Amino acid sequence: MISPILIVPATIDNLDDIADIEQRCFSAPWDRSALAHELSALSWSRTFLAVANRTTAGFVCFWTVADEYQVLKVAVHPQFQKQGIGRLLIEHLKMTAEEEDISVISLELRHRNSAARNLYQSCGFSVVGTRRGYYTDTGDDAVLMNCLLLS
Ligand SMILES: CC(C)(COP(=O)(O)OP(=O)(O)OC[C@H]1O[C@@H](n2cnc3c(N)ncnc32)[C@H](O)[C@@H]1OP(=O)(O)O)[C@@H](O)C(=O)NCCC(=O)NCCS
Repeated sequence: MISPILIVPATIDNLDDIADIEQRCFSAPWDRSALAHELSALSWSRTFLAVANRTTAGFVCFWTVADEYQVLKVAVHPQFQKQGIGRLLIEHLKMTAEEEDISVISLELRHRNSAARNLYQSCGFSVVGTRRGYYTDTGDDAVLMNCLLLS
């Protein structure tokens, strides 16, 4: 792993970096306006950045809905993948969730995305369901996963 990696809150000033990673990481990326909306100080939406040597290496974007975090996006720039940054982002999310008395973190992913599935499973997430044909660009199924935090 590269060090040190800082996990910091994102602002609208980070839009260019996030949009670049988004374009590189997803087959159906969100456009800049959708990303800007999430960064526009909505009370329910937050984004954390992973920063390596002043370079944005990845991000996680999530909503707080009642006592749940719903993860919208997790992405690590291809140049920084497989170096532990995705795990750091998810572990930071879990730590923040515990501090805020969140009971569950939920997310969905394409059923073929084995890298993401392995990451989430190794961070304590379990498969809780499937949505058939959820991704309209390819017809891929979505796998629903969650991580329970409170007993
Ligand atoms: C999924 C993603 C965020 C993982 O980020 P990363 O920084 O490369 O992951 P890490 O290095 O922290 O790896 C953590 C674990 O994830 C799994 N993993 C990561 N990349 C993997 C790959 N290419 N193949 C299989 N498993 C993989 C492994 O279990 C790994 O643990 P290990 O290193 O002990 O084997 C990254 O691949 C990515 O941005 N992909 C494109 C966007 C995306 O698919 N996001 C998720 C949408 S739900």
